[in-house]
Amino acid sequence: MKEQLLSRFQKVFGRAPEVVTRAPGRIEFIGNHTDYNGGTVLGASIDRGVGVALARRTDGQRRFFSGHTNEIVTLPAGPLQKQTGPASFTNYPQGVLAAMPAFGLRAPEGFDYLDLSDLPVGAGLSSSAAIELASGLAFLSVTGQSPSRETLVKIGKHAENNFVGVPCGILDQGVSGFGKKDHLVFIDCRGPRFDTVPLPAGAHFWIFNTHTKHALVDGLYATRHRECMEAAKTLGVGLLVEATTAMVTAAQGKLSPAVFQRARHVVEEIARVDAAVKLLPTGDLAAVGRLLTASHRSSQTLFQNSTTELDFLVDTLAATPHVYGTRLTGGGFGGAVMALTDGAFGQTEAQGVVAAYAAKFGQKPDVLHTQTGDGATIL
Ligand code: GLA
Repeated sequence: MKEQLLSRFQKVFGRAPEVVTRAPGRIEFIGNHTDYNGGTVLGASIDRGVGVALARRTDGQRRFFSGHTNEIVTLPAGPLQKQTGPASFTNYPQGVLAAMPAFGLRAPEGFDYLDLSDLPVGAGLSSSAAIELASGLAFLSVTGQSPSRETLVKIGKHAENNFVGVPCGILDQGVSGFGKKDHLVFIDCRGPRFDTVPLPAGAHFWIFNTHTKHALVDGLYATRHRECMEAAKTLGVGLLVEATTAMVTAAQGKLSPAVFQRARHVVEEIARVDAAVKLLPTGDLAAVGRLLTASHRSSQTLFQNSTTELDFLVDTLAATPHVYGTRLTGGGFGGAVMALTDGAFGQTEAQGVVAAYAAKFGQKPDVLHTQTGDGATIL
């Protein structure tokens, strides 16, 4: 990716960048909507991501070019300006610039900025966190600042929460920042505390992207966030991580049926993450896989952030040989399903799933066989 960034930057801006960076997308392994509830979560950074090339300008202008839109967006010196339409990709780097002072860091003024991605957008693989982390590293590098990785992660989350306007937790940025090849990232979101856990040999990831709408910003995610906070308030705890199954059951009469189900999902999902953390060192991928599929069933029935398309993929994959477990990955309401498989699952099996999906829905999901990869880095 480095060569492409260097040559594209030269072509678009007629000079060399000062720095090139890259940050990966992520798979949510298990821990669906646990992060903003203070819970635990496991994710994997993958071998696809977003690269950023950057060089400062002296006139204060901010010029952004994205490989997706193939156009330069020029924003004048002065206050940052949230964009809509084709220029809205600038909101991620702009959000990062806006966040830097909140962490006691200096943001660069003018610059030429270019991003390139080999990560499918809207697939629930968190291209937004990848662009935030790659941008953050680039802005920090050209201004000669090197805060901790945790600060970089928090800057990305701050950008997403405050500038882009999505009340997400720390999963996506945390995994993109702390990812490590052949490992999963474990996050205890209360600290937050980040750790890595070796991924047992022989684990493979397959992603099936439905291309159905991934409506994070459109409010469904925010609604779930609100429902969880309402449950915590009624239960008398700060966040749902402090609640137990017994507490949720005892409060059933005081919670609306929907809010009760959301709370049950979160409390039980946190228990599943903890069970997965204990199982991973044993290498028992079949048992880990069962937790993954159980997580999906809970998203389907209790958290209700799945869709007919995602459920069909999970049902089909769960009945396919060599699949340890399968679940929606990310916010839900569309997007992608991931399968944890053994090495014998291949294109034949994947195309069988694609054909079954196409026969039912009239279009094919994209298939991606992906591996773990390292976290955000300067190239
Ligand atoms: C999205 C958010 C994350 C997390 C997941 C659901 O990916 O960005 O913070 O809440 O949804 O687990």
